[in-house]
Amino acid sequence: MPQIFHRSANTLAKLSIVVGGLAAVSVLGMLYAIQVSPYVTEVRVVKDQPIPFSHEHHVGGLGLDCRYCHHTVEKTASATIPPVATCYNCHKVVWGDAPMLKPVRDAYKNDTPIEWNKVHDLPDFAYFNHSAHVNKGVGCMSCHGRVDKMPMMWKEKTLYMGFCLDCHRNPEPNLRPVEAMTDMEWEPSEEWKETDKFAHLGIRKTKPGHINQLTNCAVCHR
Ligand code: HEC
Ligand code: HEC
Ligand code: HEC
Ligand code: HEC
Ligand code: HEC
Repeated sequence: MPQIFHRSANTLAKLSIVVGGLAAVSVLGMLYAIQVSPYVTEVRVVKDQPIPFSHEHHVGGLGLDCRYCHHTVEKTASATIPPVATCYNCHKVVWGDAPMLKPVRDAYKNDTPIEWNKVHDLPDFAYFNHSAHVNKGVGCMSCHGRVDKMPMMWKEKTLYMGFCLDCHRNPEPNLRPVEAMTDMEWEPSEEWKETDKFAHLGIRKTKPGHINQLTNCAVCHR
């Protein structure tokens, strides 16, 4: 039998498989890089706002507690953005004539809301609840980062499903006493490290052999 293909064809065929494989991997790698890039995830990307409101100045500088403005965070699913009256309380006097704060004065006098741009926005098919977290020892910082150091608000975490599940599979390292929910500088004490956190916070324990409640699809897709 005469050889149909020259010997070198074998090497060429092998080579092309390797090159093809590498190309496929690098395309996948590029797609992955795009998927996790800030362009897509919007992590640490500042949004334009109608007023340059600074959490760094109001929380880090003035020491206001998150609940002064986001006062429903312990009671309802939503943390809510404060109404302009909350700002005007201080700013009718503090910087009362500053041009930067004219939108605050106008909104208050005309009784119109300030149109803040949303920084965090889950798709409608995913259910989230603030009160269920902060009352069970998950502090703002675990999901929003060092807000007291943000001159303008950004998203610290992707809030993708994998982010939620990472903690739901093993919440323990992220749990703190409920009193510390808004504390941006909290560190665990020796006593806290020894505490049975699930019992202390009243978190359901997974029974052996049962599906973990927290990773059940129906918890977040209802
Ligand atoms: C003086 C009032 C005030 C205080 C105190 C305050 N915030 Fe805010 N917060 C706002 C306003 C106004 C906005 C909307 C404008 C913006 O996004 O910067 C906002 C936006 C946010 C957002 C983004 C909302 C979105 O669009 O997704 C998060 C998260 C947030 N605050 C967390 C916190 C945390 C955590 C604390 C405490 C460490 C805190 N805030 C303290 C007024 C306040
Ligand atoms: C408890 C009082 C208080 C409340 C409530 C408050 N502010 Fe302020 N704000 C201040 C003070 C004091 C300063 C000056 C801070 C400084 O010089 O560091 C300030 C500064 C500012 C500035 C100037 C830029 C900066 O950050 O230094 C803006 C803009 C502003 N506030 C917007 C708002 C808006 C919008 C709200 C409502 C969501 C609000 N403030 C609520 C006390 C308050
Ligand atoms: C377990 C994660 C998690 C924790 C803890 C958490 N948040 Fe949020 N926060 C989110 C998610 C997710 C959203 C977006 C919700 C949506 O789009 O439906 C959000 C949105 C917000 C918003 C925008 C308004 C709203 O409710 O959609 C504010 C303000 C806010 N969070 C403040 C806080 C404050 C203050 C705390 C602590 C007292 C806190 N968050 C703790 C995950 C968290
Ligand atoms: C840092 C840890 C942590 C992160 C991140 C986290 N969770 Fe949770 N989640 C918890 C804990 C702890 C509980 C309370 C468990 C309990 O009460 O037994 C909980 C409970 C819930 C519940 C049940 C509320 C109820 O009705 O009882 C929902 C829904 C939920 N999480 C959705 C989410 C979603 C969606 C995300 C992502 C955007 C998320 N969680 C991110 C720790 C976390
Ligand atoms: C702890 C909360 C949580 C649990 C549990 C959960 N999901 Fe999700 N899921 C989310 C969130 C949040 C998103 C939206 C992410 C985003 O912003 O795109 C999502 C998105 C999705 C999407 C859209 C594609 C994507 O990845 O964004 C599908 C499909 C999905 N979930 C299926 C499931 C299935 C099937 C289960 C059970 C095995 C499940 N989820 C359990 C929170 C959860």
